[in-house]
Amino acid sequence: MGETAVPAAPEASPAAGEGISAAHVRRTFGNVVAVDDMGLTAPAGQVTALVGPNGSGKTTLLLVLATLLVPDAGEIRVAGHDPVREPREVRSRIGWMPDAFGTYDTLTPREVLQFVAAAYRLPRDRHAARARELLALVHLEDLADRPVHVLSRGQKQRLGLARALVHDPGVLLLDEPAAGLDPRSRIELRGILRDLAADGRALLVSSHVLAELEEIADRAVFVDGGRTVDEHDLTELRPTQRRPWRLRSLDQESLLSRLDGLGVTVTGQPGPAGVDVMLAGDEEAADLVAALVRDGVRVVECAPAAGTLEAAYLEMTEGRR
Ligand SMILES: Nc1ncnc2c1ncn2[C@@H]1O[C@H](COP(=O)(O)OP(=O)(O)O)[C@@H](O)[C@H]1O
Ligand SMILES: [Mg+2]
Repeated sequence: MGETAVPAAPEASPAAGEGISAAHVRRTFGNVVAVDDMGLTAPAGQVTALVGPNGSGKTTLLLVLATLLVPDAGEIRVAGHDPVREPREVRSRIGWMPDAFGTYDTLTPREVLQFVAAAYRLPRDRHAARARELLALVHLEDLADRPVHVLSRGQKQRLGLARALVHDPGVLLLDEPAAGLDPRSRIELRGILRDLAADGRALLVSSHVLAELEEIADRAVFVDGGRTVDEHDLTELRPTQRRPWRLRSLDQESLLSRLDGLGVTVTGQPGPAGVDVMLAGDEEAADLVAALVRDGVRVVECAPAAGTLEAAYLEMTEGRR
């Protein structure tokens, strides 16, 4: 299995470079323990998913990493600095996107970005150009001079992302950026986030909906009840991961009887979309297709029926039952 660290996440060290490393973070509010013991690594050049149910402590952890809340305990490095002792250094190197976009409703997206550029003390003659670059990056040029309140949720999310990028930070902390987006906006967001990671930034992206971060994330950190419960490198996991695969053939009856003959267990109900089987990874899938074809089954489709993130989650919860 891929890299797992439960719950003893790697100790924070400057060796984590310009990304994020955190270990044994704790934050309480009175007698509410919002974050009990969380640790994670979010390396540069990758998108790390922070996944957990509502109330599991994701926002609290992100606020701590963003220097906006002081933790009760924990070893943390963000872009090579300690958010508690060196908040200014951290702030100048991170972009923070909260889960709800603040109300600048009467301003236009261009004005919002120029205002933020001024707040970050970019040279005055750069404000307009920086706003233009970012509006292009998040595809908001057409709406640049309309009031923010006419923007859809997806457009506001993209403006929120642009705002987090004004000072070209190396680390991005994004709280539920895909929440409430329609499929098209989500695909666009995915493209933008992948590009930002490809440029060498570290992205930590939270969600309480697994499917939102499927195909965006390189790594996944699962949290529950204020604790890190699992941490995976998804790219390593993919080829050897146990998960459902979907098979479809021109003749479903012969497919089913050959699967039976080969001792492969069918999961769920076979339907017009095909037959799902549980396989241990790419090798097993390739061998199965070869065996079926050799036996004369006319296979037209064989593909993972669940994403890597979902399968990792299922595997984790299975081990816990
Ligand atoms: N400022 C606060 N005061 C009191 N309790 C809080 C505060 N912020 C968060 N909590 C509590 O801490 C827990 C974790 O919240 P949060 O970090 O927002 O979780 P998530 O983002 O995963 O939904 C919840 O039980 C929440 O009610
Ligand atoms: Mg939250």
